[in-house]
Parts: sequence; structure tokens; C-alpha cells
Amino acid sequence: MGKLKVGILISGRGSNMAALVEAARDPGFPAEVCCVLANRPDAKGLEFARERGIPAVLVDHKAYPSKAAFEAAVTDELLTHGVDFVCLAGFMRIVSPTFIERWHNRLINIHPSLLPSYKGLHTHERALADGVKLAGCTVHFVRAEMDVGPIVAQAAVPVLAGDTPDSLAARILTAEHHLYPLAVRLIAEGKATVTGEVVEIAPEAADETARLFSAR
Ligand code: GRF
Repeated sequence: MGKLKVGILISGRGSNMAALVEAARDPGFPAEVCCVLANRPDAKGLEFARERGIPAVLVDHKAYPSKAAFEAAVTDELLTHGVDFVCLAGFMRIVSPTFIERWHNRLINIHPSLLPSYKGLHTHERALADGVKLAGCTVHFVRAEMDVGPIVAQAAVPVLAGDTPDSLAARILTAEHHLYPLAVRLIAEGKATVTGEVVEIAPEAADETARLFSAR
């Protein structure tokens, strides 16, 4: 079976993209990163990809008259690079239902909370304000509603006394860098498949999709 051909969409730092690129350097990893695409010229991650010989593409949303035109250009670039599966990794544009439909069940996202809790922005601030004791991150298939969709895998981290939004975000980000490659691997191996509106996990992979990840 050939490798899953992945395109990664970013807007900034790109540390999750970097984690996927690093994971894919292992010859045994069942996915390859065909291109990294950013919607902003100053996206730091583009440089990282370029340095590793991965096509780094800029599709600046500001250069397009409409969201539809921008997204059509994104899809064109992805197809040009042979992509058949898309990972959103800190991509700060809300994708339209048309784009989601175009990439139905071939489009996933990582979100820094244990969904369905804390959708949207400022997740860490809100979690701390609520006094939750576990936080974490989720990889999910993308649906039209923001931060909703079949969940592939989740990792939980403890909330520690004295945490600030930044310290909690950093702990979660470390977990994200493990979770995203894991989720992509399971999908590429056919061990995580969308059935109805949930992700069914192959029995042999059951232990992998829920992690208590504690990086103090
Ligand atoms: C991550 O926290 C991710 O969960 C969220 O945006 C952030 C992106 O960070 N969707 P990076 O660009 O991957 O470093």
C-alpha cells in the first residue's frame, strides 16, 4: 500500500507541522508530507519546510477577491502537489462548507482542548477560569461547524497549581506534537475510520487514541 499523501495548512509558527514533518522522516511512517501551504507570507513554518526540501507554498488570502477564489487556489495547489489528505495545523482561516465537502473525511484539524469542551479561541484562559483539572488536545475530522467533527484521538494533561494560559498552552502543545503524528499514522494505516459521525478505531490501536500525557 502506498503512503498517504498529506498536505499541511498553516498560518504561523507551524510547530505541529514540524512534528508531522519530523515523524514522516521515519521510513516506516505511513504518510508523506507533499507540501506545506500557508495563507500568510510571514508564516514561520514555510521556512522550516523549505529547509527540509518540502514544497512550501504561499496562497495569500489577501490576494483573492473572495473566500471561494482563495480556497479554489488552495485546492489547486494541493492537487498539483499530489495531496489526497489535508491536515490543518494552526491554519487561522475558517474553511467554508464547500472546501470541507471537497475534502470530506480527508481533512483533519488539531485543537488545543478536550473537545467538545472549549471550542473556539482562548481555550486555555477559559479552562483556567473554570478551574478544570485536566486539559488537553484533540485531533478531529473537520465538519462545517467550528471545532466539531469525528474525534480521532485525544491527549490529556494535568492543570497544575500556578498555571498561566501560557504555561498550560506549552504543556498542551508538547502533547499536540505527539498526538498529531499518532492520529495521522492511525488514519494512514486504516486503523481510524469514520463510520457515521464517529471514528472507529481498530481494536489493536484502541490503547493509542486516548493518552494521559504529562509533561511537567
Ligand atoms: C496549536 O495550539 C493548535 O492546536 C491550534 O493552533 C496552534 C498552532 O500552533 N490549532 P503551531 O502553529 O502548530 O505551532
